[in-house]
Amino acid sequence: MRSGVHSSRPAQQPCGLDDNQRQSGNGEFKMRNSMRFNGKVVLVTGAGRGIGWEIARGFAEAGASVALIDIDDRSMHERLCELERGNTRAIAVPADVADNSQVQAAVREVIDRLGDLHILVNNAAIFSSTPLLEIKQEEWNRVMAVNVRGMLNCAQAAVRHMMNGEGGRIVNLASLAGKRGRTIFGDPGESTWAAYAVSKASIIALTKAMAYEWAPHHIYVNAVAPGLIDVGQLEEGQKERMAARIPVGRVGGAGDVASAVLFLAAEENSYITGEVLDVNGGVEMD
Ligand SMILES: NC(=O)c1ccc[n+]([C@@H]2O[C@H](COP(=O)([O-])OP(=O)(O)OC[C@H]3O[C@@H](n4cnc5c(N)ncnc54)[C@H](O)[C@@H]3O)[C@@H](O)[C@H]2O)c1
Repeated sequence: MRSGVHSSRPAQQPCGLDDNQRQSGNGEFKMRNSMRFNGKVVLVTGAGRGIGWEIARGFAEAGASVALIDIDDRSMHERLCELERGNTRAIAVPADVADNSQVQAAVREVIDRLGDLHILVNNAAIFSSTPLLEIKQEEWNRVMAVNVRGMLNCAQAAVRHMMNGEGGRIVNLASLAGKRGRTIFGDPGESTWAAYAVSKASIIALTKAMAYEWAPHHIYVNAVAPGLIDVGQLEEGQKERMAARIPVGRVGGAGDVASAVLFLAAEENSYITGEVLDVNGGVEMD
């Protein structure tokens, strides 16, 4: 893969899981039709495609009202139409999560239009595969600004509102890379995607800090740490090669992550906070 800051797949490729994956049943969202989020308002960042979209769709299918935030206005609006066709109460607000004033305005709009905010899923992130000796300050700073500060921006705006109500739930998207200091790709001497890995390690610490500071306000904060998840970014043959290195024998699907996020966000979870839940098919166990 090319060096530099980039999304996990080219913009012109389709979002989320493809039809074959859906039919195979592997990696699909596991809690369909339960309506357990009836009456809840959920905000998902980076919901225009990939894992974020699958999370938003999962909440919608479980009865929630859903707010989408993404920097990519076009793909997000296609997703909004899809939710509306399924009769979900939904809105889409374009924003760059790294820009605090945009985030504050977007969260205000969500609360004004949907009436409340119970659950925040901090999913938006960018990737960086540049090796340590080549990475420039600007690229490093942008990864941290989107992936780490972006999560804090969204959480601050949401929590100020949640504190005045009955509390809330926050789920942050960390990564196996944040635990290992490198991605699942690559041999010794190759790029570890260090900026990305460091940002995800920061999210693990940030999740615990948020959980500790906001626990007295009944705001539960947890993270999921996915391993390799196929959102259409894998090249020909790569999926099979990677599957051979994963104990359960397959690359994860966005639905695997969505299932874990909904579990942590559910009201039944009333005693788990500051936890980092692995969703990696057994690649790393701690
Ligand atoms: N795909 C994987 O293998 C994998 C593994 C571990 C963790 N994750 C994490 O899961 C999350 C989603 O990953 P994905 O693979 O679906 O990524 P993706 O690139 O497919 O989607 C990311 C979404 O975030 C949006 N986004 C990017 N920058 C933004 C910004 N500044 N403001 C608002 N929106 C922005 C993009 O437009 C896009 O819609 C990320 O936090 C990622 O780190 C992914």
